[in-house]
Amino acid sequence: MESVILNNGRAIPMVGFGTWQILGDQCETCVRQALDLGYRLIDTARMYENEEAVGRGIRASGIPREEIFLTTKVFQPDNSYQGTRAAIDQSLLRLDTDYIDLFLIHEPYEEDRDMVRAMREALEAGKIRALGISNYNKDLYARFVTECGLVPAVNQVEAHVLHQQLSLKEAMDGTVLQAWSPLTCGQRPVVTDPVLAEIGAKYGKTAAQIALKALVQQGIPVVPKTVTPSRMKENLDIFDFTLSSEDMTVIRAMDTGKTLFGWY
Ligand SMILES: NC(=O)c1ccc[n+]([C@@H]2O[C@H](COP(=O)([O-])OP(=O)(O)OC[C@H]3O[C@@H](n4cnc5c(N)ncnc54)[C@H](OP(=O)(O)O)[C@@H]3O)[C@@H](O)[C@H]2O)c1
Repeated sequence: MESVILNNGRAIPMVGFGTWQILGDQCETCVRQALDLGYRLIDTARMYENEEAVGRGIRASGIPREEIFLTTKVFQPDNSYQGTRAAIDQSLLRLDTDYIDLFLIHEPYEEDRDMVRAMREALEAGKIRALGISNYNKDLYARFVTECGLVPAVNQVEAHVLHQQLSLKEAMDGTVLQAWSPLTCGQRPVVTDPVLAEIGAKYGKTAAQIALKALVQQGIPVVPKTVTPSRMKENLDIFDFTLSSEDMTVIRAMDTGKTLFGWY
């Protein structure tokens, strides 16, 4: 698995497994299947209400914990120093693990400086290994770095072929931009897009694989979600080819620069 090195010196896999909207036994099964198929990053969050199932899936896989990169996130009402302190311990309990590889502030909060204080303490205590943020735009990122005195390891944001986020990526020195909804979560039919399918045909790949590869090839790690084992395999199978510069030009031209979700 290709990876990129974070500012804490640790590697983050370029393709991970997203778990939003997968719950309970199905989540446990999917996490185990994904790990069996070769995924080594699992992306969850307190908000997804599936941390316990993710923990069970990891255990059921039999894969040593140290081979897995585990991300979770803190969300309101825990947007305070005490709240974040407690949230970290609760996530550890639910995930049934001693440490979290990447702990993200799920969305911008005015209290993020207090939250970072709790996260730094957890880092020193070995409970988390990297601190990051999610859904921070360019201005909010700059404010975060100045006010919190911290360059986050990761900013996880909406990114896909229709909104590639290259200018945000460029603006974040020392922070890896990681893509959520890299297949647009069904908001647009990128997985059947005729232009991506035509490019894919040249490499023996699907439109979905081209959509993911286009981000990965630009240094953007992705966390696609699927409950379908054949798609889990497909989404991971993007490391045996390189998109030509002509194809990358066509794909870059698909970037509308606009969010499909409009959260931030
Ligand atoms: N930080 C944040 O605020 C934030 C926000 C949103 C998401 N996320 C993270 O990002 C992850 C991914 O985003 P997402 O779940 O919104 O959407 P996504 O990964 O862009 O898309 C998931 C959808 O695409 C389908 N799909 C997956 N692979 C496919 C393939 N190869 N061919 C055709 N269809 C395919 C899935 O169908 P099936 O499942 O039916 O197979 C599902 O309907 C989340 O699960 C979560 O971990 C983070």
